Amino acid sequence: MNDMVILGIETSCDDTGVALVQGGRRILANVVQSQVAVHREFGGVVPEVASRKHIANIGVVLEECMERSGLGLNEVDVIAVTNRPGLIGALLVGVSFAKGLAYALGKPLLAINHLEGHIYANFLEHEGIEFPLVCLIVSGGHTSLVYMRNHGVMEVMGQTRDDAAGEAFDKISRFLGLGYPGGPAIEKAARLGREGVYQLPRAYLEKDGFEFSFSGLKTATMNLWNRLKKSGQEVDVNHLAAEFQAAVVDVLVEKTIAAARHRGVRTVLLAGGVAANTRLRERMSEGCREIGLNLFYPSIALCTDNAAMIAACAAYRWGLDSPAPLQLNAYPGL
Ligand code: KG4
Ligand code: ZN
Repeated sequence: MNDMVILGIETSCDDTGVALVQGGRRILANVVQSQVAVHREFGGVVPEVASRKHIANIGVVLEECMERSGLGLNEVDVIAVTNRPGLIGALLVGVSFAKGLAYALGKPLLAINHLEGHIYANFLEHEGIEFPLVCLIVSGGHTSLVYMRNHGVMEVMGQTRDDAAGEAFDKISRFLGLGYPGGPAIEKAARLGREGVYQLPRAYLEKDGFEFSFSGLKTATMNLWNRLKKSGQEVDVNHLAAEFQAAVVDVLVEKTIAAARHRGVRTVLLAGGVAANTRLRERMSEGCREIGLNLFYPSIALCTDNAAMIAACAAYRWGLDSPAPLQLNAYPGL
């Protein structure tokens, strides 16, 4: 691994992130300005508002990152920016800002895939991750099982056909009046409740496939709630949150372990915002331990969106990709 200092920039959704990472592993500074308080009153991310907040915040976030690191911009070797997938207006802020910086400093620019960035939160923190491996990426926008043969060599084995796991958490949290973002809110409520008091389905789809679907579970949860209310019963939100969380996690764990067995790998990674979920971390650990798989997941702060994972990813992509031209664009899809 080279020893370059990489400045990462992340603005794909509602977090404005700038970070400095050396050699792909050493975080010199990692600043994230969250917009949660702004979007909370709308119950979800409002794209236009996110873009405007990124514009207002990004310069300040860069300034704070440089100050915390004690480095000057002239000590940065490479600029790395998320340019896909995400909210287009939000991505364009980061990409424009990165291009301006790269041009002004005369430094190379690398374009990074946000999902690949999530995977590299693991390489940032853990030593001894061996290929080939299977990674479950679970966030607000994506639920994918990825097979990775080596750095930069990956294949999507399956993804969600409808809602992402995090999206399901967010929507059900809103429905139950638990607030935004939904994942942490449901996890908190679930801790006060018990699984199995209510019964919700586990959506495995084809038993030996690697695709996910969470919209049926979402409907089943809402129907159960409405049925209980109609029959005049009090609904215990904590028990319902616990069962909902269990239904999501059971499917994620079973499919990930099946994918690891199918490919004969010995390493499993978790990545993305939903990887912060304690029940998912515990159940995946148990499942992997049972059949001798090595499991890695990032610390909670590096599961959700941040720019350190983007800079770390760029350290491994350096040499695989040519630097991006100044015509670099942003793309909402993969
Ligand atoms: O990776 P991320 O920060 O942004 C995207 O790329 O989407 O993930 C955000 C998602 C949200 O849907 C949020 O509800 C979910 O991650 N999340 C969680 C937890 N913390 C965040 N879901 C379940 N349990 C958590 N503890
Ligand atoms: Zn993300």
